[in-house]
Amino acid sequence: MEDSIEMILQDYGRVLPTSRPHPVLSACTGALLTGFYGLWSLFVMPGFRKIPWNLKVPYLPSSKVQTLNTMKLLEGRTGHLVDLGSGDGRLVFAASSAGFRCTGFEINSILVAYARSKALWAGVPSSQATFVKKDFWKTDLSTYNNVTAFLAPGVMGVLGEKLLRELPDDALVIACRFPFPNWPHRSSVGSGLDQTFAYDIGSVRSHLRNVVNPVV
Ligand SMILES: C[S@@+](CC[C@H](N)C(=O)[O-])C[C@H]1O[C@@H](n2cnc3c(N)ncnc32)[C@H](O)[C@@H]1O
Ligand SMILES: *[C@@H]1O[C@H](CO)[C@@H](O)[C@H](O)[C@H]1NC(C)=O
Repeated sequence: MEDSIEMILQDYGRVLPTSRPHPVLSACTGALLTGFYGLWSLFVMPGFRKIPWNLKVPYLPSSKVQTLNTMKLLEGRTGHLVDLGSGDGRLVFAASSAGFRCTGFEINSILVAYARSKALWAGVPSSQATFVKKDFWKTDLSTYNNVTAFLAPGVMGVLGEKLLRELPDDALVIACRFPFPNWPHRSSVGSGLDQTFAYDIGSVRSHLRNVVNPVV
């Protein structure tokens, strides 16, 4: 039940011969699956279609280690947390069991339904974990000051600009796997694909001000 989405993807693989796949065949399979995903996201998810091409981010669940690294960076904090692109809700559930009240924004209605049913199944009340089917690019984030994002390298720059416009100075932002370009991080945990980065918006703002107008 827990990993049913991954299992569906694995089942896709099982239909095809698994012993020593021919490189051309595996390339074709990869292309085909990517194509299916593209078509599915374009036609099944109405919200996704409206997002400009350069801002589209596909679903990729975070690993256990990555989730643990994120939780380490959140240690000592409490209150309300928002996850931008919450997927199947794994980060939201991890944070809510650590005591956060969590909101996950997710554009993919299938993943929203899946995460909500998981919450229901596990008896997590909606005051602890809320899933909102909404495009976070079109959401005002100024009421949040604890933010996590596991997205894609190409959107981090644009997301950084949005967060600098909207978040208060005392906000903590955690980027999973893909750091914000040109932002100094306060700390980071892990390495490689599981690395997570913590940023203090106040420090990022003063750093960027000094880059533009260096204090001599
Ligand atoms: C890389 S996945 C991360 C999922 C989850 N946070 C995790 O750690 O497993 C990114 C998620 O963001 C969602 N997403 C992409 N663009 C979005 C948008 N504009 N608004 C809301 N969700 C979005 C995708 O559907 C996908 O589920
Ligand atoms: C974010 O975390 C800080 C530190 O624990 C907490 O004081 C604050 O209330 C949290 N933000 C919200 C909106 O709950």
